Amino acid sequence: MMGQSLARRGVLFPGGPIVDIRSLLQMPTLYSWFQRAVGSDHGRRVYVRDHVRPCAGDAILDVGCGPADVLEYLPAVCYHGIDLSERYIDAARRKYGDRATFRVVDVAELAAESPRAFDIVLANGLLHHLPDDAVTHLFRVAAILLKPEGRFVSIDGCFTSEQSYLARYFLSRDRGLHVRQPEEYLNLARQVFPNVRGNIRHDLLRIPYTHLVMEAAAASASQLPLPHSTSQGRAA
Ligand SMILES: C[S@@+](CC[C@H](N)C(=O)[O-])C[C@H]1O[C@@H](n2cnc3c(N)ncnc32)[C@H](O)[C@@H]1O
Repeated sequence: MMGQSLARRGVLFPGGPIVDIRSLLQMPTLYSWFQRAVGSDHGRRVYVRDHVRPCAGDAILDVGCGPADVLEYLPAVCYHGIDLSERYIDAARRKYGDRATFRVVDVAELAAESPRAFDIVLANGLLHHLPDDAVTHLFRVAAILLKPEGRFVSIDGCFTSEQSYLARYFLSRDRGLHVRQPEEYLNLARQVFPNVRGNIRHDLLRIPYTHLVMEAAAASASQLPLPHSTSQGRAA
């Protein structure tokens, strides 16, 4: 009974009026712990292998990098992470400062300071935190920052008609206020990138959850290389 009451008040389940557990995720250690608890180790490994496909020596810009946990899954790349949160950036610098650089930046103020500098621009779990105009701004800047053969790669939770009730429930409780349907993410990307591919995946976390992975080629002439085949991924 007590559990039910606490749950209704948001103490046990996120989003309630008394203690919103989601706010605790602003703490880098708790965020990384929570990610691992829901299965991010497997998810990041598969995402990097199938979609990011980095090569040693690649210049990578990770926008909304958080504590930069993705670095555990990348080869020896030249990594630059930016995030709005000073806490996350401080934690990332403490852990990875010897092999990467970090800066506190709001996407809305991201400037195309070094055109054609990056092989890959990443946005992992970021787009569903941003309104449409900020997403479009990010895409426009990324298109300038990418080398002609470079790629923009993102992953976000999404709503689909085929997902389970539980997946829909978890997505509806996300901290991000802009969880979209796949076509909504893809249409935003297509305003800027001429060649965008979406992949819907239900297999990246231990809990029921649906992700859209987007890959966009920087230059109009280039074609995205075919991804590794996946048992669960399906084109959006
Ligand atoms: C779900 S977390 C993902 C963190 C990391 N990319 C990962 O995969 O674990 C979303 C991140 O986006 C960042 N973020 C949200 N809005 C932002 C903005 N306007 N500018 C830059 N970063 C932002 C948050 O601070 C947070 O670190």
